[in-house]
Amino acid sequence: MSWADTTVDSRQNLDERIGVVGLGYVGLPVALAYATHGFHVVGYDISQTHIAALCQGIPEVVTATADDLTTALNSGWFVPTTNAQHLQGCAALIICVPTPLAPGGIPDLSALQAAASTVAEHAHPGVTVILESTSYPGTTREILLPLLESRLGKVGVDFFLGFVPERIDPGNKAYRLDNTPRIVGGMTPECTRHIVALYQQIVSDCYPVSSPEVAETAKLLENSFRNINIAWVNELLRFCQETGLDVDEVIRAAATKPFGYMPFWPGPGVGGECIPVDPRYLAWRARVVHSPLYLLEHALDTNDWQPLYEVDQIKEILNQAGRPISQALVLIIGVAYKPDVADVRNAPALLVIERLQKAGARVMYHDPYVSTIDVSGNRLRSVDLSKRLLQGVDLAVLVTAHSSVDVDHIYRLVPRFLDLTHGA
Ligand SMILES: NC(=O)c1ccc[n+]([C@@H]2O[C@H](COP(=O)([O-])OP(=O)(O)OC[C@H]3O[C@@H](n4cnc5c(N)ncnc54)[C@H](O)[C@@H]3O)[C@@H](O)[C@H]2O)c1
Repeated sequence: MSWADTTVDSRQNLDERIGVVGLGYVGLPVALAYATHGFHVVGYDISQTHIAALCQGIPEVVTATADDLTTALNSGWFVPTTNAQHLQGCAALIICVPTPLAPGGIPDLSALQAAASTVAEHAHPGVTVILESTSYPGTTREILLPLLESRLGKVGVDFFLGFVPERIDPGNKAYRLDNTPRIVGGMTPECTRHIVALYQQIVSDCYPVSSPEVAETAKLLENSFRNINIAWVNELLRFCQETGLDVDEVIRAAATKPFGYMPFWPGPGVGGECIPVDPRYLAWRARVVHSPLYLLEHALDTNDWQPLYEVDQIKEILNQAGRPISQALVLIIGVAYKPDVADVRNAPALLVIERLQKAGARVMYHDPYVSTIDVSGNRLRSVDLSKRLLQGVDLAVLVTAHSSVDVDHIYRLVPRFLDLTHGA
């Protein structure tokens, strides 16, 4: 029996459990979505503190609400655990573990490999295994398939395997998990059919493709598209600054074209777990197969070093005001990597602060979503924006414009103000 043949009622009788491996930004909302739709869900994570928080109804990630978590826990449909034995017998296992970068910007697949081993150890014949973690094209076939085949038999017959890239956008209220289409790339047509039937329980639209590699590459195309376009306008920003043009006005003008163009905006750099990281998986794989993606590599470097360009601007403004950087007090407004979220992973603000401190500046920050940050081993706390504080700084730098921050108020009180944000 599979989802392709069952209704919600019959599934409850069958007690078909779903295991989600890794309950972070991506895995937790998936687990809660299935629990909400009447599936028994085992949420497995190696982090004891994270599981303890979940059991107390604290989601710890912005992609799930405490209300949804509490409802799922109280219903008994969702069981968070650090015990992998509970994955045994699950009809589907969905892997959502981190795929970060190792030093040197190369893929770090240690979490994925560990999760794949856990899944292979506890999977039983008939299981459907899905990888959601972003990785290079070939990961599902090269890492998961051999492990599962050695224990379960033939793919598409004895078990089902495929890649379904995550498309979560933390903080996006218009496009959520349920109304964002999902690409499904099964190892075989039968695998794709099983996986589509499973995902149709929680999302409105699935788009089947011919292989996991197509799905893996499509995910990296999406993220690389953003990285390349942001790098392009970051370069254009420099050109405009040199030639005395307002880059925002230029982009707004171009955006009046109703076809063949979509606006991207310059900024302090790219942050988060996806846009600065995932394209490196593609660039790395392209080098391995001797087909380098030079445009992408250049874009990645441009965006990675953008915060340093902004630090040079800060130094120049202070110099012109007769304040050497080593004696300056700089206030950073917004350290999260994008507005209205609390996420500082790979946030450009951290590199800006680190470099300013290294140059001898005193740096404070204000962020209503982020109470503390660690920079070069030192902890900084978000400061309250009193009138006295604002009047006492040498320069305020707007890095991330949270909607609840009164930027006009800050602008009026500080002696100098640099806005690194752009947009319509
Ligand atoms: N965060 C996003 O917005 C986003 C969007 C699209 C895709 N992705 C991709 O999704 C994947 C997961 O990202 P995330 O943001 O959810 O990561 P995360 O760090 O928020 O969560 C991952 C969870 O996996 C757990 N974990 C690590 N190793 C494990 C193991 N061996 N077994 C079980 N649990 C394990 C961690 O403890 C953590 O709780 C990554 O590949 C990421 O690139 C993330």
